[in-house]
Amino acid sequence: MPRAVRFNEYGDVDVLEVVDVPRPTPAPGQVLVAMRAAGINPLETSIRSGLLREVFPTTFPAGQGLDLAGQVVELGEGVDGFTVGQDVVGFTENQSSHADYVLVNADNVIAKPGNVPWEVAGGLYVVGTTAYAAVAAVGVNAGDTVVVSGAAGGVGSLAVQLAKHLGANVVGLASPANHEWLTAHGVIPVSYGDGVAERITAAIGGTVDAFIDTFGADYIRLAIDLGVAPQRIDTIINFADAAQYGVKTDGNSAAATAQVLAELVDLIDRGELEVPIAAAYPLEHVRDAFRDLERRRTRGKIVLVNHTAPDPAAVLVAEREFNQRNIEEFRANGGKVGGQFEGFPLLLLTSTGARSGQHRINPVAYFDIDGKIYIIGSSAGRDRDPAWAFNLRAHPAATIEIDSEAPRAVTARELPPAERDTIFRAVVQTAPGFGDYERRTDRVIPVFELAPASSPMH
Ligand SMILES: NC(=O)c1ccc[n+]([C@@H]2O[C@H](COP(=O)([O-])OP(=O)(O)OC[C@H]3O[C@@H](n4cnc5c(N)ncnc54)[C@H](OP(=O)(O)O)[C@@H]3O)[C@@H](O)[C@H]2O)c1
Repeated sequence: MPRAVRFNEYGDVDVLEVVDVPRPTPAPGQVLVAMRAAGINPLETSIRSGLLREVFPTTFPAGQGLDLAGQVVELGEGVDGFTVGQDVVGFTENQSSHADYVLVNADNVIAKPGNVPWEVAGGLYVVGTTAYAAVAAVGVNAGDTVVVSGAAGGVGSLAVQLAKHLGANVVGLASPANHEWLTAHGVIPVSYGDGVAERITAAIGGTVDAFIDTFGADYIRLAIDLGVAPQRIDTIINFADAAQYGVKTDGNSAAATAQVLAELVDLIDRGELEVPIAAAYPLEHVRDAFRDLERRRTRGKIVLVNHTAPDPAAVLVAEREFNQRNIEEFRANGGKVGGQFEGFPLLLLTSTGARSGQHRINPVAYFDIDGKIYIIGSSAGRDRDPAWAFNLRAHPAATIEIDSEAPRAVTARELPPAERDTIFRAVVQTAPGFGDYERRTDRVIPVFELAPASSPMH
């Protein structure tokens, strides 16, 4: 049975339980994701403890968690651009990602590049978008001196790197244990505590232009004392002082979009942004994970990980069922299928299994270009070619069904690169989604021409 973290009353970590729940079903516009990693954040502690009961009233039993990365296992009606089995990173909006299966709006997930580790992807959303918003709020320019409090924490460790990326000189306030990490990332480390203002001034030998507070306490006052203009101070936590001093409070909600997430994932993919992973706890050890977080000594992120999901066999079964549903719908509706294939001209392709030698049927979108039929290999996802592409390479003889016509024999030819590029460009003009998909996944999607079996292929 799938598991999810739940709590039935406000309290300390001991109110957290991992309970069995039914597997959720995606509504139209949603995808169901098998969670592989999900970050934990101080916000969840504040909600669970009841500290935010006025702002975020909770109904029990309550779930928790916004960050996640995992594998798509089911698509809701009307979802296109994702495939069953695809690795994704994203966020929920309703505190539910600390679970085996998570329902997510398709607009809130993006493809996860293969070399971004699960823990990093799964811990990115809240801290990444918050750091992004805070850096944007204080208007960091090249050459500015920017001070960040809580510089080694989840948000701080990303804020210092994003500010560096924009060309700023960055001072990071942190305990000595984190100084080496900060120095290695080009940040000037300064210890907090008595005398911090003097230590900052001595370290930079000039003035401070902007201040990002990710910790709270007296840091807004410190920023004001250092002569920073209120519109160049941002706090993500001390809202009372922010109101008193007229400083900014941009945080997660100011940048909570899939576009920002995609920018951050791209930086990570290119090796230009690091999310330090302090610890990864199995989902069932959620209490230990929060005990660790609540010590407020984390460098980077603590994440929950899921070693039991996804079950590759379950993903295969889901793929097969998805296929079968489409084949039945195709035959019942004279070649028309809704959902992911809505509006696409579709054919049923019967190929011969490359390894099994058995017949395989797949619904495949096709394109009629200058009287020739082309199919492209993006319908089965998983960052690699679909099984039918391997089948056609091994056995080019196949059968196709279009509309309610009788099956006809064809021969498949995979287009060589230059020819592929020309036809793919023509395909993308009518179906831009394929171009977006190729860009998102860094794949070169194969294209096959299908000619009547009797006609000689050029
Ligand atoms: N407004 C929003 O949208 C938003 C979004 C995310 C988070 N937040 C809030 O922002 C805060 C930070 O979140 P987070 O995820 O980054 O937390 P975190 O990872 O738990 O932050 C821990 C960091 O706090 C540092 N720290 C401890 N005592 C300190 C002190 N006296 N002065 C300076 N730094 C100190 C620690 O550094 P050392 O080990 O070096 O001491 C540690 O690296 C939380 O209060 C959270 O609720 C707000």
